Amino acid sequence: MSSEHGSEKNVSDDDKSLPETQDTAAGGELEKHPFADPGLPHHEPRIQDIDERAAKRSERVVALFFTISMLATVAFIVSFVVFPIDKIFYLWPLGHISALNFSLGLSLGVALFAIGVGAVHWSRTLMDGTELVQERHPIDSTPDEKAAALATFAKGAEDSGLGRRKLIRNTMFGALALVPLSGVVLLRDLGPLPEDKLRHTMWRRGLKLINMNTNEPLRPEDITVGSLSFAKPEGLEEGSHDFHREIAKAALMLVRLEPGDIKDKQELDWSHEGIVAYSKICTHVGCPVSLYEQQTHHVLCPCHQSTFDLSDGARVIFGPAGHPLPQLAITVNDEGELVARGDFAEPVGPSFWERG
Ligand code: FES
Repeated sequence: MSSEHGSEKNVSDDDKSLPETQDTAAGGELEKHPFADPGLPHHEPRIQDIDERAAKRSERVVALFFTISMLATVAFIVSFVVFPIDKIFYLWPLGHISALNFSLGLSLGVALFAIGVGAVHWSRTLMDGTELVQERHPIDSTPDEKAAALATFAKGAEDSGLGRRKLIRNTMFGALALVPLSGVVLLRDLGPLPEDKLRHTMWRRGLKLINMNTNEPLRPEDITVGSLSFAKPEGLEEGSHDFHREIAKAALMLVRLEPGDIKDKQELDWSHEGIVAYSKICTHVGCPVSLYEQQTHHVLCPCHQSTFDLSDGARVIFGPAGHPLPQLAITVNDEGELVARGDFAEPVGPSFWERG
């Protein structure tokens, strides 16, 4: 065998005795290298190498996969044109999914998969099947190099006096062990632990919903069909030191729907005369959701286009948000003002809060 780096050699039927020859020539080398090179198995020609009709069949199979890929690419383009962005359908076990996303993903996946399968089948059945060996130079060091490295290490240890000067050695180990503690102490500057503060908001039973624009308590008659109203909890005054921290969790948006249009039973139970109150904080990365489309009851987050269906439990119908907007259960008090029936039943905002 050539020892030149990068050289290649074909192994043909004439090389059947190669492993034996190697073993014999290696002799005492086997002791040095107990895992002897077993060599390559005897090369067996494939059916396609000896039967032209089998080769033609393989050719047709490869062409079939490439054709499937072409059709899938055409399907991808057609899906992009044909399916509206808000077309949703039910597919077990995935649930309600976007027809556009599903068809684009499926067709592109099939197109790429078919190219891969065609290429693999082509190379396995029709391309040259002769085994090749690429020689590499040995990567282990020579005995002289190993001895020189050990001698250098031993001389360094001797020169430093590490073995003789135990006081220096022990105090050095102590210093090296303690110095990382400085980094641990600095972690305290990251501030107090959030504990469960991110899981709760100011909302509690009986707290009035205050109109963000007028600063007055909201009444059902203030919420008209087609409008989007924003509310904050009673007692949260703009300018107070915790205003921004609290409003970032408690901000609400309200819309009035026809009760018959509300598809989700819990949503209906938590609403008042068709008025539903949802967290305004997007469940993707926390932008304020603010664009409302009256006909479809969809609200859109302007940051990354997550879209939620307010008539169906604020389900995510498009975009990167991981889960629906949390709903706040509301009712009216004796004065006819809208009030909360408690806090949100789940953490508001980005999904990672739930895992904290
Ligand atoms: S923050 Fe709303 S979609 Fe990203």
